[in-house]
Amino acid sequence: MRHQYHPLGFEGSRIAQGFWRCLEWGMSPAERLGFIEACLDLGVTTFDHADIYGKYQCESLFGEALALKPALRDKMEIVTKCGVLLPAERRPEIGLHRYDYRSKHIIESVDASLAALQCDYIDTLLLHRPSPLLDADEVAQTLDHLFTLGKVKHFGVSNFSAAQFDLLQSRLDAPLVVNQVELSPLALEHFKDGTLEHAQQHAVTPMAWSPFAGGAVFSGEDDKAERIRSVLQAIANSRNVTMDQVVIAWLLRHPSGICPVMGSGKIERLERAVDATRLLLSDDDWFRIWIASQGHPVP
Ligand SMILES: NC(=O)c1ccc[n+]([C@@H]2O[C@H](COP(=O)([O-])OP(=O)(O)OC[C@H]3O[C@@H](n4cnc5c(N)ncnc54)[C@H](OP(=O)(O)O)[C@@H]3O)[C@@H](O)[C@H]2O)c1
Repeated sequence: MRHQYHPLGFEGSRIAQGFWRCLEWGMSPAERLGFIEACLDLGVTTFDHADIYGKYQCESLFGEALALKPALRDKMEIVTKCGVLLPAERRPEIGLHRYDYRSKHIIESVDASLAALQCDYIDTLLLHRPSPLLDADEVAQTLDHLFTLGKVKHFGVSNFSAAQFDLLQSRLDAPLVVNQVELSPLALEHFKDGTLEHAQQHAVTPMAWSPFAGGAVFSGEDDKAERIRSVLQAIANSRNVTMDQVVIAWLLRHPSGICPVMGSGKIERLERAVDATRLLLSDDDWFRIWIASQGHPVP
Protein backbone atom coordinates (compact mmCIF):
# COMPACT_ATOMS: atom_id res chain seq x y z
CA MET A 1 0.00 0.00 0.00
CA ARG A 2 2.71 2.49 0.92
CA HIS A 3 3.79 4.73 -1.94
CA GLN A 4 0.92 3.50 -4.04
CA TYR A 5 -0.34 6.65 -5.68
CA HIS A 6 -3.43 7.31 -7.67
CA PRO A 7 -3.00 6.89 -11.39
CA LEU A 8 -4.55 10.36 -11.84
CA GLY A 9 -3.52 13.88 -10.74
CA PHE A 10 -4.01 13.57 -7.00
CA GLU A 11 -1.04 12.40 -4.96
CA GLY A 12 -2.41 10.46 -2.05
CA SER A 13 -2.89 6.96 -0.73
CA ARG A 14 -5.41 4.61 -2.33
CA ILE A 15 -7.55 4.92 0.82
CA ALA A 16 -7.81 8.07 2.96
CA GLN A 17 -8.70 8.49 6.61
CA GLY A 18 -11.22 11.17 7.55
CA PHE A 19 -11.27 13.13 10.81
CA TRP A 20 -14.84 14.46 10.82
CA ARG A 21 -15.78 12.20 13.74
CA CYS A 22 -12.46 12.57 15.57
CA LEU A 23 -14.04 14.37 18.53
CA GLU A 24 -16.28 11.33 19.13
CA TRP A 25 -13.32 8.96 19.30
CA GLY A 26 -12.45 10.24 22.76
CA MET A 27 -8.70 9.68 22.29
CA SER A 28 -5.95 11.32 24.32
CA PRO A 29 -3.31 13.20 22.27
CA ALA A 30 -0.96 10.20 22.62
CA GLU A 31 -3.70 7.81 21.46
CA ARG A 32 -4.47 10.10 18.51
CA LEU A 33 -0.78 10.08 17.59
CA GLY A 34 -0.79 6.28 17.86
CA PHE A 35 -3.80 6.16 15.54
CA ILE A 36 -2.08 8.44 12.99
CA GLU A 37 1.06 6.31 13.11
CA ALA A 38 -0.96 3.13 12.70
CA CYS A 39 -2.64 4.65 9.61
CA LEU A 40 0.77 5.54 8.17
CA ASP A 41 2.05 2.02 8.90
CA LEU A 42 -0.87 0.68 6.87
CA GLY A 43 0.08 2.96 3.97
CA VAL A 44 -2.90 5.26 4.57
CA THR A 45 -1.03 8.54 4.27
CA THR A 46 -3.86 10.87 3.24
CA PHE A 47 -5.82 12.54 6.05
CA ASP A 48 -9.06 14.34 5.30
CA HIS A 49 -10.13 17.37 7.33
CA ALA A 50 -12.30 20.48 7.14
CA ASP A 51 -12.14 23.67 9.12
CA ILE A 52 -15.65 23.02 10.49
CA TYR A 53 -15.23 19.39 11.62
CA GLY A 54 -16.12 18.92 15.28
CA LYS A 55 -17.43 22.49 15.35
CA TYR A 56 -13.97 23.78 14.40
CA GLN A 57 -12.11 21.46 16.80
CA CYS A 58 -10.97 18.40 14.83
CA GLU A 59 -8.07 20.06 13.01
CA SER A 60 -6.69 21.18 16.39
CA LEU A 61 -6.97 17.67 17.79
CA PHE A 62 -4.95 16.38 14.84
CA GLY A 63 -2.42 19.21 15.15
CA GLU A 64 -1.99 18.56 18.85
CA ALA A 65 -1.10 14.92 18.10
CA LEU A 66 1.17 15.83 15.17
CA ALA A 67 3.06 18.27 17.40
CA LEU A 68 4.16 15.28 19.50
CA LYS A 69 6.06 13.96 16.45
CA PRO A 70 6.39 16.74 13.83
CA ALA A 71 8.65 14.60 11.61
CA LEU A 72 5.52 12.67 10.60
CA ARG A 73 4.35 15.67 8.54
CA ASP A 74 6.61 14.67 5.63
CA LYS A 75 5.09 11.20 5.53
CA MET A 76 1.49 12.31 5.00
CA GLU A 77 -0.76 14.36 2.76
CA ILE A 78 -3.20 16.69 4.50
CA VAL A 79 -6.45 17.53 2.75
CA THR A 80 -8.64 20.21 4.29
CA LYS A 81 -11.60 22.31 3.24
CA CYS A 82 -12.96 25.81 3.50
CA GLY A 83 -16.04 27.75 2.52
CA VAL A 84 -18.73 26.64 4.97
CA LEU A 85 -19.67 29.00 7.81
CA LEU A 86 -21.11 27.20 10.81
CA PRO A 87 -22.39 28.95 13.94
CA ALA A 88 -20.35 27.51 16.83
CA GLU A 89 -19.10 28.49 20.26
CA ARG A 90 -15.60 28.83 18.82
CA ARG A 91 -16.84 31.21 16.10
CA PRO A 92 -19.16 33.68 17.85
CA GLU A 93 -18.89 36.05 14.87
CA ILE A 94 -20.75 33.58 12.63
CA GLY A 95 -24.49 34.21 12.75
CA LEU A 96 -25.76 32.06 9.89
CA HIS A 97 -24.96 28.62 8.49
CA ARG A 98 -24.04 29.57 4.92
CA TYR A 99 -21.13 29.59 2.47
CA ASP A 100 -18.37 32.18 2.04
CA TYR A 101 -15.87 32.15 -0.83
CA ARG A 102 -14.79 35.76 -0.52
CA SER A 103 -11.02 36.13 -0.71
CA LYS A 104 -10.82 37.35 2.89
CA HIS A 105 -12.62 34.30 4.23
CA ILE A 106 -10.61 31.77 2.20
CA ILE A 107 -7.30 33.30 3.30
CA GLU A 108 -8.33 33.52 6.96
CA SER A 109 -9.68 29.99 6.87
CA VAL A 110 -6.41 28.59 5.45
CA ASP A 111 -4.38 30.48 8.07
CA ALA A 112 -6.64 29.13 10.83
CA SER A 113 -6.34 25.58 9.45
CA LEU A 114 -2.54 25.83 9.30
CA ALA A 115 -2.42 27.08 12.90
CA ALA A 116 -4.80 24.35 14.10
CA LEU A 117 -3.02 21.57 12.19
CA GLN A 118 0.34 22.92 13.43
CA CYS A 119 1.94 22.73 10.01
CA ASP A 120 3.05 25.22 7.40
CA TYR A 121 1.38 23.91 4.25
CA ILE A 122 -1.74 22.08 3.16
CA ASP A 123 -1.29 19.44 0.48
CA THR A 124 -4.76 19.83 -1.02
CA LEU A 125 -7.34 22.50 -0.20
CA LEU A 126 -10.93 21.73 -1.21
CA LEU A 127 -13.80 24.18 -1.59
CA HIS A 128 -16.25 22.33 0.64
CA ARG A 129 -19.57 22.95 -1.10
CA PRO A 130 -20.65 24.91 -4.16
CA SER A 131 -22.20 28.30 -3.51
CA PRO A 132 -24.51 30.31 -5.75
CA LEU A 133 -22.44 33.38 -4.79
CA LEU A 134 -19.05 31.84 -5.62
CA ASP A 135 -17.21 34.29 -7.88
CA ALA A 136 -14.84 32.10 -9.89
CA ASP A 137 -12.48 34.97 -10.77
CA GLU A 138 -12.10 36.06 -7.16
CA VAL A 139 -11.61 32.47 -5.96
CA ALA A 140 -9.05 31.71 -8.69
CA GLN A 141 -6.99 34.77 -7.76
CA THR A 142 -7.13 33.82 -4.10
CA LEU A 143 -6.05 30.23 -4.69
CA ASP A 144 -3.22 31.43 -6.89
CA HIS A 145 -2.11 33.74 -4.08
CA LEU A 146 -2.16 30.89 -1.54
CA PHE A 147 -0.13 28.72 -3.91
CA THR A 148 2.44 31.49 -4.44
CA LEU A 149 2.84 31.88 -0.69
CA GLY A 150 3.50 28.13 -0.44
CA LYS A 151 0.56 27.63 1.90
CA VAL A 152 -1.32 25.23 -0.38
CA LYS A 153 0.18 22.82 -2.93
CA HIS A 154 -2.93 21.57 -4.75
CA PHE A 155 -6.58 22.50 -5.03
CA GLY A 156 -9.82 20.63 -5.45
CA VAL A 157 -13.52 20.85 -4.77
CA SER A 158 -16.16 18.89 -2.93
CA ASN A 159 -19.82 18.28 -3.79
CA PHE A 160 -19.39 20.20 -7.07
CA SER A 161 -21.31 19.35 -10.24
CA ALA A 162 -19.36 19.05 -13.50
CA ALA A 163 -20.55 22.53 -14.54
CA GLN A 164 -19.54 24.12 -11.22
CA PHE A 165 -16.15 22.41 -11.50
CA ASP A 166 -15.65 23.58 -15.10
CA LEU A 167 -16.47 27.21 -14.33
CA LEU A 168 -13.85 27.40 -11.58
CA GLN A 169 -11.29 25.45 -13.61
CA SER A 170 -11.77 27.85 -16.56
CA ARG A 171 -10.42 30.70 -14.39
CA LEU A 172 -7.60 28.76 -12.69
CA ASP A 173 -4.10 27.98 -13.96
CA ALA A 174 -3.64 25.14 -11.48
CA PRO A 175 -5.52 21.92 -12.26
CA LEU A 176 -8.24 21.00 -9.76
CA VAL A 177 -7.17 17.50 -8.71
CA VAL A 178 -10.06 16.25 -6.54
CA ASN A 179 -13.84 16.30 -6.40
CA GLN A 180 -14.93 14.79 -3.07
CA VAL A 181 -18.52 13.56 -3.26
CA GLU A 182 -20.78 11.10 -1.49
CA LEU A 183 -20.41 7.64 -3.02
CA SER A 184 -21.55 4.36 -1.50
CA PRO A 185 -23.87 1.47 -2.34
CA LEU A 186 -26.58 3.55 -0.65
CA ALA A 187 -25.67 6.74 -2.54
CA LEU A 188 -25.60 6.16 -6.30
CA GLU A 189 -26.45 9.73 -7.40
CA HIS A 190 -22.92 10.71 -8.44
CA PHE A 191 -22.42 7.43 -10.30
CA LYS A 192 -25.25 8.55 -12.54
CA ASP A 193 -25.07 12.34 -12.87
CA GLY A 194 -21.86 12.57 -14.90
CA THR A 195 -19.58 13.42 -11.95
CA LEU A 196 -17.43 10.31 -12.35
CA GLU A 197 -17.24 10.54 -16.15
CA HIS A 198 -16.20 14.18 -15.81
CA ALA A 199 -13.54 13.16 -13.28
CA GLN A 200 -12.10 10.59 -15.65
CA GLN A 201 -12.11 12.96 -18.59
CA HIS A 202 -10.19 15.61 -16.62
CA ALA A 203 -7.89 13.32 -14.60
CA VAL A 204 -9.57 14.34 -11.34
CA THR A 205 -9.62 11.92 -8.43
CA PRO A 206 -13.06 11.35 -6.95
CA MET A 207 -12.78 10.98 -3.18
CA ALA A 208 -15.77 9.10 -1.73
CA TRP A 209 -17.09 10.58 1.49
CA SER A 210 -19.17 8.35 3.75
CA PRO A 211 -18.28 5.16 1.85
CA PHE A 212 -20.52 3.21 4.28
CA ALA A 213 -23.19 5.95 4.24
CA GLY A 214 -22.12 6.91 7.74
CA GLY A 215 -22.72 3.32 8.93
CA ALA A 216 -26.21 3.04 7.39
CA VAL A 217 -24.95 0.30 5.03
CA PHE A 218 -24.67 -1.89 8.15
CA SER A 219 -27.45 -0.52 10.31
CA GLY A 220 -30.07 1.01 7.96
CA GLU A 221 -33.52 -0.46 8.57
CA ASP A 222 -35.16 0.48 5.27
CA ASP A 223 -35.75 -2.01 2.45
CA LYS A 224 -32.93 -0.59 0.33
CA ALA A 225 -30.32 -1.04 3.07
CA GLU A 226 -31.61 -4.53 3.78
CA ARG A 227 -31.46 -5.53 0.12
CA ILE A 228 -27.91 -4.21 -0.18
CA ARG A 229 -26.84 -5.94 3.02
CA SER A 230 -28.16 -9.30 1.94
CA VAL A 231 -26.18 -9.10 -1.33
CA LEU A 232 -23.05 -7.83 0.47
CA GLN A 233 -23.30 -10.69 2.95
CA ALA A 234 -23.68 -13.31 0.22
CA ILE A 235 -20.63 -11.97 -1.65
CA ALA A 236 -18.65 -11.67 1.58
CA ASN A 237 -19.44 -15.32 2.43
CA SER A 238 -18.49 -16.53 -1.03
CA ARG A 239 -15.15 -14.67 -0.95
CA ASN A 240 -14.41 -15.33 2.73
CA VAL A 241 -14.17 -11.61 3.51
CA THR A 242 -16.33 -9.13 5.44
CA MET A 243 -19.17 -6.91 4.19
CA ASP A 244 -17.19 -3.71 4.68
CA GLN A 245 -14.41 -5.17 2.52
CA VAL A 246 -16.90 -5.88 -0.26
CA VAL A 247 -18.07 -2.24 -0.13
CA ILE A 248 -14.49 -0.96 -0.42
CA ALA A 249 -13.71 -3.37 -3.29
CA TRP A 250 -16.94 -2.22 -5.01
CA LEU A 251 -15.82 1.43 -4.87
CA LEU A 252 -12.24 0.64 -5.93
CA ARG A 253 -13.50 -1.41 -8.90
CA HIS A 254 -14.89 1.73 -10.57
CA PRO A 255 -12.63 2.93 -13.42
CA SER A 256 -12.52 6.54 -12.13
CA GLY A 257 -10.03 5.58 -9.38
CA ILE A 258 -12.27 6.40 -6.42
CA CYS A 259 -10.41 7.09 -3.16
CA PRO A 260 -12.67 6.04 -0.24
CA VAL A 261 -12.41 8.34 2.80
CA MET A 262 -12.87 6.19 5.90
CA GLY A 263 -14.63 7.64 8.91
CA SER A 264 -14.14 5.25 11.81
CA GLY A 265 -11.50 5.73 14.49
CA LYS A 266 -11.16 1.95 14.89
CA ILE A 267 -7.91 0.90 13.30
CA GLU A 268 -9.14 -2.66 12.68
CA ARG A 269 -11.76 -1.28 10.28
CA LEU A 270 -9.02 0.54 8.36
CA GLU A 271 -6.88 -2.63 8.30
CA ARG A 272 -9.75 -4.48 6.67
CA ALA A 273 -10.23 -1.68 4.13
CA VAL A 274 -6.53 -1.80 3.21
CA ASP A 275 -6.77 -5.59 2.83
CA ALA A 276 -9.72 -5.04 0.51
CA THR A 277 -7.47 -3.22 -1.98
CA ARG A 278 -6.41 -6.75 -3.01
CA LEU A 279 -9.98 -7.96 -3.43
CA LEU A 280 -11.11 -7.84 -7.06
CA LEU A 281 -14.88 -8.12 -7.44
CA SER A 282 -16.31 -9.88 -10.48
CA ASP A 283 -18.48 -7.76 -12.75
CA ASP A 284 -21.43 -9.98 -11.77
CA ASP A 285 -20.91 -9.18 -8.10
CA TRP A 286 -20.42 -5.48 -8.84
CA PHE A 287 -23.76 -5.34 -10.63
CA ARG A 288 -25.51 -7.43 -7.96
CA ILE A 289 -24.79 -4.59 -5.51
CA TRP A 290 -25.84 -1.93 -8.06
CA ILE A 291 -29.12 -3.76 -8.76
CA ALA A 292 -29.82 -4.27 -5.05
CA SER A 293 -29.36 -0.55 -4.48
CA GLN A 294 -31.59 0.45 -7.41
CA GLY A 295 -34.26 -2.06 -6.44
CA HIS A 296 -34.75 -3.14 -10.06
CA PRO A 297 -32.72 -4.83 -12.80
CA VAL A 298 -30.75 -2.76 -15.29
CA PRO A 299 -32.83 -1.87 -18.39
N1 LIG B 1 -16.84 16.55 1.73
C1 LIG B 1 -17.92 16.38 2.45
O1 LIG B 1 -18.92 17.08 2.28
C2 LIG B 1 -17.93 15.30 3.50
C3 LIG B 1 -19.13 14.95 4.15
C4 LIG B 1 -19.08 13.93 5.10
C5 LIG B 1 -17.87 13.27 5.38
N2 LIG B 1 -16.73 13.67 4.75
C6 LIG B 1 -15.44 12.98 4.99
O2 LIG B 1 -15.65 11.58 4.87
C7 LIG B 1 -15.15 10.91 6.01
C8 LIG B 1 -15.92 9.65 6.24
O3 LIG B 1 -17.30 9.93 6.47
P1 LIG B 1 -18.12 8.99 7.45
O4 LIG B 1 -17.55 9.01 8.80
O5 LIG B 1 -19.56 9.30 7.30
O6 LIG B 1 -17.77 7.57 6.76
P2 LIG B 1 -18.35 6.11 6.87
O7 LIG B 1 -17.14 5.23 6.85
O8 LIG B 1 -19.40 5.91 5.84
O9 LIG B 1 -19.05 6.01 8.28
C9 LIG B 1 -18.35 5.82 9.45
C10 LIG B 1 -19.35 5.43 10.50
O10 LIG B 1 -19.82 4.13 10.19
C11 LIG B 1 -19.76 3.33 11.34
N3 LIG B 1 -19.55 1.92 11.05
C12 LIG B 1 -20.36 0.94 11.43
N4 LIG B 1 -19.89 -0.24 11.03
C13 LIG B 1 -18.77 -0.02 10.36
C14 LIG B 1 -17.84 -0.87 9.70
N5 LIG B 1 -17.96 -2.18 9.62
N6 LIG B 1 -16.77 -0.27 9.14
C15 LIG B 1 -16.61 1.06 9.19
N7 LIG B 1 -17.48 1.90 9.79
C16 LIG B 1 -18.54 1.37 10.38
C17 LIG B 1 -18.60 3.91 12.12
O11 LIG B 1 -18.77 3.55 13.46
P3 LIG B 1 -17.50 3.29 14.42
O12 LIG B 1 -17.06 4.64 14.82
O13 LIG B 1 -18.09 2.48 15.51
O14 LIG B 1 -16.48 2.54 13.67
C18 LIG B 1 -18.75 5.40 11.89
O15 LIG B 1 -19.67 5.96 12.79
C19 LIG B 1 -15.26 11.97 7.13
O16 LIG B 1 -14.40 11.72 8.21
C20 LIG B 1 -14.89 13.22 6.39
O17 LIG B 1 -13.47 13.30 6.32
C21 LIG B 1 -16.74 14.66 3.81
